[in-house]
Amino acid sequence: SAPKILVFSGSSRPGSLNAKLAALAAKKLTAAGAQVTLISLADYPLPLVDATGFGHAPQPAHDLRAQIDAHTGLFIASPEYNAGYAPALKNALDWTSVAKPGAPATGLAGKVVALGGASPGALGAYRGLTQLRTVLELGFGALLIPEMVAVGGADKAFGEDGEITDARTSGFLDAALERLVKLSSQTA
Ligand code: FNR
Repeated sequence: SAPKILVFSGSSRPGSLNAKLAALAAKKLTAAGAQVTLISLADYPLPLVDATGFGHAPQPAHDLRAQIDAHTGLFIASPEYNAGYAPALKNALDWTSVAKPGAPATGLAGKVVALGGASPGALGAYRGLTQLRTVLELGFGALLIPEMVAVGGADKAFGEDGEITDARTSGFLDAALERLVKLSSQTA
């Protein structure tokens, strides 16, 4: 059966480059036969997480957690801030673990995850992705595919049609999505 794949950007900024990457990934995953849900973290407004949230998680934390639970694979497009990944993304992920506690955080355990990042800089958020990958593996028990898609020069990388114009970068995205579909079909 078609794997269910959740797609979102770690940035909800209007005009977000990572939202463009997420939208493109969602389009390609749908074309590859996956059942795709593209969400925006803007629809899950959450305060900064801390331990007082245990047993008192706001509804958006439960809703986001339910989205993760309902899918077998994820594609996350993450911005890079000062060589790390975006705090809004960490906040959202941490809230999903507070919504239903467990160790390692259970929501993403066993889910197949592919990471991409877009930035105007040359490294395309790659340094942030290496951090995010470690957190998802060690903290959340997620299964990370080896390919990570870094879209450098991202302010000029997307055509009017939303495609990545550079063939090599576009090929990296295709390869990552192909493996995401394949592996999330196996764990479904
Ligand atoms: C950035 N940006 C950035 N880019 C990068 O490639 N490496 C970096 O270390 C940083 N650091 C950084 C810190 C902070 C606080 C901000 C706000 C931004 C630039 C960043 O990649 C750019 O703003 C992207 O457009 C953010 O992603 P979205 O919002 O377009 O998806």
